Amino acid sequence: MQQPIRPRRNRKMAGVRDLIRETTLTTHDLLLPLFLLDGQGKKIEVSSMPGIYRYSIDGILKEIEEAMLLGIKAFDVFPVVPETLKDKTASYSWAEDNFYLHALSSIKQHFPEAVVMTDVAMDPYSSDGHDGLVVDGEIVNDATLDILARMAVAQAQAGADIIGPSDMMDGRVGAIRAALDAAHFTQVSIMSYTAKYASGFYGPFRDALDSAPKFGDKKTYQMDPANRLEALREMELDTREGADMLMVKPALAYLDVIRLLKDHSQLPITAYNVSGEYAMLKAAAERGWLDYERVMMETLLSIKRAGADVILTYHAKEAAKLLR
Ligand code: PBG
Repeated sequence: MQQPIRPRRNRKMAGVRDLIRETTLTTHDLLLPLFLLDGQGKKIEVSSMPGIYRYSIDGILKEIEEAMLLGIKAFDVFPVVPETLKDKTASYSWAEDNFYLHALSSIKQHFPEAVVMTDVAMDPYSSDGHDGLVVDGEIVNDATLDILARMAVAQAQAGADIIGPSDMMDGRVGAIRAALDAAHFTQVSIMSYTAKYASGFYGPFRDALDSAPKFGDKKTYQMDPANRLEALREMELDTREGADMLMVKPALAYLDVIRLLKDHSQLPITAYNVSGEYAMLKAAAERGWLDYERVMMETLLSIKRAGADVILTYHAKEAAKLLR
């Protein structure tokens, strides 16, 4: 009789498990999102994201310094724009006195080594709360592209290393690439939100930025959660239009899509472990229902195992502390 095959031998002790581990999470995989307020000395917690704060630039610089000491090198900054500065065309996004653009420059001045990523979409600046231009109740595509391109160039001018178009308009990667190149920002990268789904998991983020749509939803531009092939289609377009890195968002309910893109693309794949995913773990932990650190690391590892090269996550600092 043949001897039974015993996979448990490869799990028998920590040393063996360490030897054969297939996936390793490192601090270098992590990209930390930050919420920026105008002004000085401000720090306001996001109520649906315990432990995550909106900071004015002084606090942001401190956060970045702390994170860099933990080994995190990349940051995605999102502005919280006062309602009074919002309009139909998001014109504040490229305004001379824009506090976000000034903050980007200041971050690069203080931390030239930090990789600074920005968000390109109209919603933080739009009085309609949509990622594109609204005309007669519709989100119009091509007129939005000019606005996004102008926003991207302003951010590049301010020192952004990576531009992150999160708007899901058709053709935006090409439009932004062309505008950046024309303005001689050939070294500025584009990390495209390639497969961004119309998800309920963005709720806490919209609380943080006060950027929820004023009418309707985002289903005419963000993807239907039911679709996989569409992600491949978006992947091909973004690649052809010149994206340097691709993103899948959210992460957890879309691990299969992360794997799909990883298997079909030669570009690095980022996964955005979004606000609602963070909130779920925090809420369960507050009730004592889950061991927070354990499920956080398991979650991040699962995203890496699915194929993500980069993980945008609000857990970045907590995870980096455990990885030290
Ligand atoms: C805006 C944008 C959103 C997120 C990143 N950029 C929200 C949205 O599309 O409504 C969500 C991030 C998160 O939930 O953590 N274009």
